[in-house]
Amino acid sequence: MPGWGGAAAAMYMKSEEQIREWILYGAPRSGSRDGTAWTTDGLVEMPAYHDLLSNRDLDDLVAYFLAVSGWAPEIPDGPFEGRRVATRIGCFGCHGPSGMGGVPNPGSFKGHISPWDGEEFRELVRSDAELREWILDGSIARLRDNPLARYFLDGQKTQMPAYRGHISNEELNLMVQYVGWLRR
Ligand code: HEC
Repeated sequence: MPGWGGAAAAMYMKSEEQIREWILYGAPRSGSRDGTAWTTDGLVEMPAYHDLLSNRDLDDLVAYFLAVSGWAPEIPDGPFEGRRVATRIGCFGCHGPSGMGGVPNPGSFKGHISPWDGEEFRELVRSDAELREWILDGSIARLRDNPLARYFLDGQKTQMPAYRGHISNEELNLMVQYVGWLRR
């Protein structure tokens, strides 16, 4: 069964309405993102809770789910697909659920792997060109050329993988869209 992390949630629902439908009916009535009906191939189906919950209970549950999952409803198509790509190739294992803050990383700049937003991100990534460079090369020339930054880049326990040759241009563009959306 999928966890409530934003990454997994992104695979299963598109809008807040669909979150409600999952809880009430065990699957969204409005169909999947591409319009086909939902089918469950697992042995255990999600139970339907519609005769057990008041409207108030449902509101509370949805609010709780949104807080825990980091899931934002009504994500546009490009960023949605970008998050899907990032989920599939494993970015969130290091950068945290939805890219919101990562795992400890001894010897690195901050002692942990940085999120895709906030002050740390602004220091590490100054433009979309640098964002692409990070993903393709696992680091950027601006930091490699700086002796102090280089010390941390080389010494950190976990290294960012270089994805050049492992992802398509399309996948790269989608992930750049996702990071841009996340930061807005
Ligand atoms: C094995 C762990 C690992 C994986 C997997 C990984 N990264 Fe990283 N990433 C790092 C480390 C370490 C850094 C160095 C800077 C730091 O500590 O945040 C980094 C830096 C970055 C940066 C610079 C800004 C920031 O937030 O640190 C971006 C952007 C980035 N990675 C994107 C990605 C994307 C996109 C993916 C998936 C395609 C990905 N990373 C997968 C470990 C990882």
